[in-house]
Amino acid sequence: MRMKFILSQILLYSTLYLLARCEPIEDKQALLDFIDNIYHSRNLNWDERNPVCSSWVGITCNYDNSRVIAVRLPAIGLKGSIPVNTLSRLSSLQILSLRSNGISGTFPLDLLMIPSLMNLYLQYNNFQGPLPLDFSGGRNISVLNLSNNSFNGSLPFSFSNLTHLTSLNLANNSLSGDIPDFNIPSLEFLDLSNNNLTGVLPQSLLRFPNSSFSGNNISSPSVPHPTTLPKEHSSKFSLSAILGIVIGSCVVAFVSIALLLVLTNRKKNDDDKSTTSIPQKKEKSKKRMVFEKDENSRLTFFEGCSLAFDLEDLLRASAEVLGKGTFGTTYKAAIEDATIVAVKRLKEVIVGRKEFEQVMEIVGSIRHENVAPLRSYYYSKDEKLVVYDFYNHGSVSTLLHAKRGDNRIPLDWETRLKIAIGAAKGIAHIHTRNNGKLVHGNIKTSNIFLNSKLNACMCDLGLATLTSPIAPPVMRTAGYRAPEITDTRKATQASDVYSFGVVLLELLTGKSPVHSSGGEEIIHLVRWVHSVVREEWTGEVFDAELMRYAGIEDEMVTMLQIGMSCVVRVPDERPRIVDVVKMVEDIRSVDLGNGLSSGTRSLGSTRTTTPNRTPISYVGEIGSSSV
Ligand SMILES: *[C@@H]1O[C@H](CO)[C@@H](O)[C@H](O)[C@H]1NC(C)=O
Ligand SMILES: *[C@@H]1O[C@H](CO)[C@@H](O)[C@H](O)[C@H]1NC(C)=O
Ligand SMILES: *[C@@H]1O[C@H](CO)[C@@H](O)[C@H](O)[C@H]1NC(C)=O
Ligand SMILES: *[C@@H]1O[C@H](CO)[C@@H](O)[C@H](O)[C@H]1NC(C)=O
Ligand SMILES: *[C@@H]1O[C@H](CO)[C@@H](O)[C@H](O)[C@H]1NC(C)=O
Ligand SMILES: *[C@@H]1O[C@H](CO)[C@@H](O)[C@H](O)[C@H]1NC(C)=O
Ligand SMILES: *[C@@H]1O[C@H](CO)[C@@H](O)[C@H](O)[C@H]1NC(C)=O
Ligand SMILES: *[C@@H]1O[C@H](CO)[C@@H](O)[C@H](O)[C@H]1NC(C)=O
Ligand SMILES: *[C@@H]1O[C@H](CO)[C@@H](O)[C@H](O)[C@H]1NC(C)=O
Repeated sequence: MRMKFILSQILLYSTLYLLARCEPIEDKQALLDFIDNIYHSRNLNWDERNPVCSSWVGITCNYDNSRVIAVRLPAIGLKGSIPVNTLSRLSSLQILSLRSNGISGTFPLDLLMIPSLMNLYLQYNNFQGPLPLDFSGGRNISVLNLSNNSFNGSLPFSFSNLTHLTSLNLANNSLSGDIPDFNIPSLEFLDLSNNNLTGVLPQSLLRFPNSSFSGNNISSPSVPHPTTLPKEHSSKFSLSAILGIVIGSCVVAFVSIALLLVLTNRKKNDDDKSTTSIPQKKEKSKKRMVFEKDENSRLTFFEGCSLAFDLEDLLRASAEVLGKGTFGTTYKAAIEDATIVAVKRLKEVIVGRKEFEQVMEIVGSIRHENVAPLRSYYYSKDEKLVVYDFYNHGSVSTLLHAKRGDNRIPLDWETRLKIAIGAAKGIAHIHTRNNGKLVHGNIKTSNIFLNSKLNACMCDLGLATLTSPIAPPVMRTAGYRAPEITDTRKATQASDVYSFGVVLLELLTGKSPVHSSGGEEIIHLVRWVHSVVREEWTGEVFDAELMRYAGIEDEMVTMLQIGMSCVVRVPDERPRIVDVVKMVEDIRSVDLGNGLSSGTRSLGSTRTTTPNRTPISYVGEIGSSSV
């Protein structure tokens, strides 16, 4: 085991080394040429000796680290004009954000020569002079934000070159003259407010609300056009609308503190950069609600976090409800420059700031491939937020239970086995933290996520101690809770093991821990498994979806034994999680003794097993539940 560990470490580090070595040399040079030729008041950690993709702040590379695809440098005190022929050499760049700096000069025309550029954020700078007369170079641009600068002159007709444009913000400039009738069907958001525009509003722009044009001297055409306002039926809202907070003057403080934290913390290789190049779809709900200013609160980032956003970004992000969990609602928030995070809004936090921060520090310091990294948190009197990476593949609960009955893609045995091993390792690591005293407290399949490498990641740990105890009737948690636990805040490592045992049974049976059998009757998974096993029809216990895979009975039975040993009533009789890790890791090696390699059996196999074939000889052992 130890040897295996060392070998895997060597493999990991040599892979990292190779990845670090393989980097976009030309893009790196272009970035150095840029930063060496522009004044910036903050020190960036752009050290030539370090790998650009994994350690430079504000930089995102593509999947194989061969190109830089995003540069985000908001509010780092850039001054002067953008040196020509520097950033424009990043020919695979998709996102460029230089907002909230002091950049001057005219529009950086050479950026339009980047064929892949999709999102350009230059708002809150001191750009001046006219807008480009020819946008034909930037044809892939989807989001263009030039608001709050000093651009003047008229609106060029060349905007109609931008056939992929979905969002155009030119507010708070000094643009004058008539608005040309540029017809861009893809355009969903337009803001021309607070300029010096005159004349009559062209037909093609009548579909936008009045607020898009306020602060100008524009008249509507005399014959009112039938209203063709964009439809607003969507489940997306802005987080600020949900949270009812808008941050005012303290934003500057937030930005600098957040950035300082980001800048001082050398970016580590983070497992799961959930930054994808999804352009923001739609500028939603412009509602800004009551302002609860709280000078004492800030968004706190943890080490290894390469995210460059501030609370304002978070609150402005378009948000989608991912789910309502035990401790609150989780949102998927897409921050303007396409960073996607999962934000959990905690309800009923009953501890004070100090205690909250202590737990956050313990949880936030954990970096393990099977534990979802806590990226950031926010604590104020009225709001408590925790920020995690967003996992595209969703939770194990969804993978197991979603769309049952429809022709869904079954969760195969290999993946279930990998989930069991990963989750066990994650929990084992959690139990070593805080001097071996840390407890997860809320283990269930909806808190286990699959990262991009399809490794299981434990989420939501430690939150149980912060919130008020959950009343017993809460069904979703009830099935996972060890019988001795009456107060959810008093979970123990032994009760974690119980919950993990339920997870194993869920993976095996495909059944929720508490479910109804069609009628009124409520079925408790652990009790059901016991009864099935006792009555010696073990085969029935396994998920029908697993029956298509041949030759896995032994492994399933072994996992069943492990699961059963974790859910014994007496806490002291449950194995420790480190032992459980060994047991689940051995499920596969036991089987390898049969000479069957794991890869050979899969979906394509024609041999199907019937439940009856399950060796009954195992049943006695399982039934005694004292493995
Ligand atoms: C333009 O964007 C599309 C996706 O929207 C992408 O497939 C295409 O490769 C981009 N064009 C260039 C030149 O990068
Ligand atoms: C453009 O910038 C303004 C000012 O920062 C901001 O309010 C707006 O959300 C941005 N628009 C887009 C589409 O990103
Ligand atoms: C841009 O915003 C800053 C801060 O809100 C403000 O001080 C400045 O006057 C604005 N500039 C323009 C051109 O609107
Ligand atoms: C735009 O501003 C510049 C200086 O900032 C000035 O020289 C020029 O005349 C202005 N153009 C228009 C059309 O107002
Ligand atoms: C871009 O727009 C300009 C001005 O409208 C026009 O002359 C030019 O032909 C357009 N280019 C392309 C490639 O559409
Ligand atoms: C324009 O400036 C006004 C006043 O400073 C501000 O309220 C508004 O948010 C700004 N609009 C944008 C898009 O930046
Ligand atoms: C708008 O135009 C008027 C008259 O031409 C001028 O006095 C004013 O300064 C202009 N405002 C801006 C913000 O450019
Ligand atoms: C929008 O503008 C039109 C024409 O100027 C006016 O009739 C209408 O009342 C305005 N709507 C709002 C909500 O201000
Ligand atoms: C608005 O424009 C009209 C002409 O279109 C002009 O008569 C009027 O004086 C302008 N108002 C302001 C405040 O500039």
